[in-house]
Amino acid sequence: MVKIAFNSALAQKALGKEVPESPEWFDPEVASAPVGSEGSTGRCLLTLLGIAFILSGLIVGGACLYRYFTPKRLYHGAMQFTDMSSGAESQPYYLPQVEEEVEISDSMAVISVPPPRFRPGDPAYILHDFHRKLTAYLDLTLRTCFVIPLNTSVVLPPQDLIDLFSQLISDSYRSYLVHEDLVVTERIEDVKPLGFYIRRLCDGKKTYRMERRGNIQKRSVDDCFTIHHFENKFVTETRICKA
Ligand SMILES: *[C@@H]1O[C@H](CO)[C@@H](O)[C@H](O)[C@H]1NC(C)=O
Repeated sequence: MVKIAFNSALAQKALGKEVPESPEWFDPEVASAPVGSEGSTGRCLLTLLGIAFILSGLIVGGACLYRYFTPKRLYHGAMQFTDMSSGAESQPYYLPQVEEEVEISDSMAVISVPPPRFRPGDPAYILHDFHRKLTAYLDLTLRTCFVIPLNTSVVLPPQDLIDLFSQLISDSYRSYLVHEDLVVTERIEDVKPLGFYIRRLCDGKKTYRMERRGNIQKRSVDDCFTIHHFENKFVTETRICKA
């Protein structure tokens, strides 16, 4: 006890001398605290070390979370196509083409479709959730989401999609057009049950359920809109119509 009291008295004496010499960056509150300057320098170093340790932890942790939550690979690809239904040789000078940006991970693919340059069609995000087996179209013109069960006979699984887009980097791909008619059935009020990815895409937007319409019916153009995209070796023209 005596020794401790003596030490602290000594420390205070030393402090009195050293305060004026303390460097400017030194926190005055720490400097004026009744502790020995050597002790406070040590404490400061420890604090800095601690902060560095916490920061590196945050960076490593953040990187892990980032890897976990965001798709790992980004691809770009374009596909030219002939539309057999509009007469085979009706476009002799150029073939229409669809461009896409796509992010692919083990559990999902998000396709970004820009506005088409030479034919009508909406820009969109198309999200395929391979675990939940759902597809969501976010039409960027209407700012509206449309959800339908994933069609696994059209949408390639992640690894095959990666192979397809790797092939598109080197080749200019010529393909054909497939028409698909979907019809809106009901409004979805709560997007939470649709899973993390679709919820993130469609939260705050009007969201509807859709189903495939087998026999194509005549509709006024006002009630329908189209999105051109590909997630296989052919281009799909998805026509979405209000019921
Ligand atoms: C998947 O798409 C193809 C081509 O559009 C269609 O023939 C088939 O009926 C669809 N399957 C399901 C389960 O919707």
